[in-house]
Amino acid sequence: MRVLGIESSCDETAAAVVEDGVRIVCSEVASQVDIHHRYGGVVPELASRHHVEAICPVVEAVLGGCGMAPSDVDAVAVTQGPGLVGALLVGFGFARAFAFGLGIPCVGVNHLLGHVHSVFLDPERDPPAYPFVALTVSGGHTALYHVVDSLTMILLGQTRDDAAGEAYDKVAKMMGLGYPGGAVLDAMAVQGKTGGLVFPRALLDGDSLDFSFSGLKSAVARFLSEDEGATSCMDIAASFQEAVVDVLVAKAFLAVEIAGCSDLAIVGGVAANRGLQRRAAQMASDRGIRLHIPPVSLCGDNAAMIAAAGFHYLKAGKTLALDADVFSRA
Ligand code: KG4
Ligand code: ZN
Repeated sequence: MRVLGIESSCDETAAAVVEDGVRIVCSEVASQVDIHHRYGGVVPELASRHHVEAICPVVEAVLGGCGMAPSDVDAVAVTQGPGLVGALLVGFGFARAFAFGLGIPCVGVNHLLGHVHSVFLDPERDPPAYPFVALTVSGGHTALYHVVDSLTMILLGQTRDDAAGEAYDKVAKMMGLGYPGGAVLDAMAVQGKTGGLVFPRALLDGDSLDFSFSGLKSAVARFLSEDEGATSCMDIAASFQEAVVDVLVAKAFLAVEIAGCSDLAIVGGVAANRGLQRRAAQMASDRGIRLHIPPVSLCGDNAAMIAAAGFHYLKAGKTLALDADVFSRA
C-alpha cells in the first residue's frame, strides 16, 4: 500500500510516499527556516502563508520523484495535531481535498506518534520491538512515552515548561547564534570543554519522569550577563549541552527501567544531537538496551514518518470523519 504523507504542523511543508509503513519511495521537505530566521523563532501567520505557497509544489515534486500519478496513491495520511492551527489547516485541507477528489481514504495522524514511527523507516537498522520507550525531543515537545503498539502511546512524563529544543534555540539566540540554534550549539559544544562551568540539572533527584529546562535557560542568561564575554562560547555551549544531555539520558533510561522494556527510541529534531547520541549509545551498551535513533534526515519534521504511522491508522480503519478538525495541543 502506497501512502502519501503530508506534514505542515510547524515550519516545514513536507510530503512523502511510503510503502507499507516502512519503505520510503520519495520524501521532500520545504523548510521555512530562512523566513523565520530573522525573527528568532517561528511566526505562525507567516508559517501558514508559506505552507499555502509550498504545499502543491512539494506534493508535485514527491509524486514526480516517484514517477507516480495522483491515481497511483492508495491513501493519504496527514498531521492532525499537535501544532500551529493555521499551519496544520493548510496540510489538512489539502490532504482531505486530494483524497476526496480521488475517492481514497484519508487518516489524521498525531505528529508525536509520527515522530516515533521514524525509527521504522531506516532500512539499515532493525526496528524496535513493542513495547518500547520513546523519548520525543524537539523544539515543541520533550516527553517520554511507553509505546505499547503501533497506535498506542502512554505518556510517562513531559516537560513542565520549555522543550529541550526550545532551550537550545533560546540559548543560541542569547549568544547571537541565530535561529534555530540546536545544530550550531551542538557543533560548538564538540569543540568546547565542560570543566568548571556547571549549569543546573532540574528534577534529577527521585524518580520523576518530568523535565524542566527553563531554569537552565535562565542560568545561562545570568551567566552570560555576568561573564561579559570572558568565557569561551565553545565552553559555554559544551557545559549547556552537558546539562541537557545529562537530564535527557538519565530520564530516558529511568523510563526504560520503570517500564521494563529493552528498546529505547529517541526521536525528534534534538535526536540529531551528537552529544546526546554518544551518551545514549554508551549507556545503552552498558545496560544491554537496544537504542534506536533515526537518521538525521528523519529526526526533524518530515512527512515520511506521518505516512508510516498513517499506514497503521488505515489498517485499523481509523479514517477521518467528515467533521474532523485539527488540534493544537497534545
Ligand atoms: O522536530 P523538529 O524539526 O521540529 C519540532 O517539532 O519542533 O525539531 C526542531 C528542533 C529545534 O529546536 C532545533 O534547534 C533542534 O530541534 N535541533 C537540535 C539539533 N538539530 C536540531 N538540537 C540540538 N542538537 C542538534 N544537533
Ligand atoms: Zn516535530
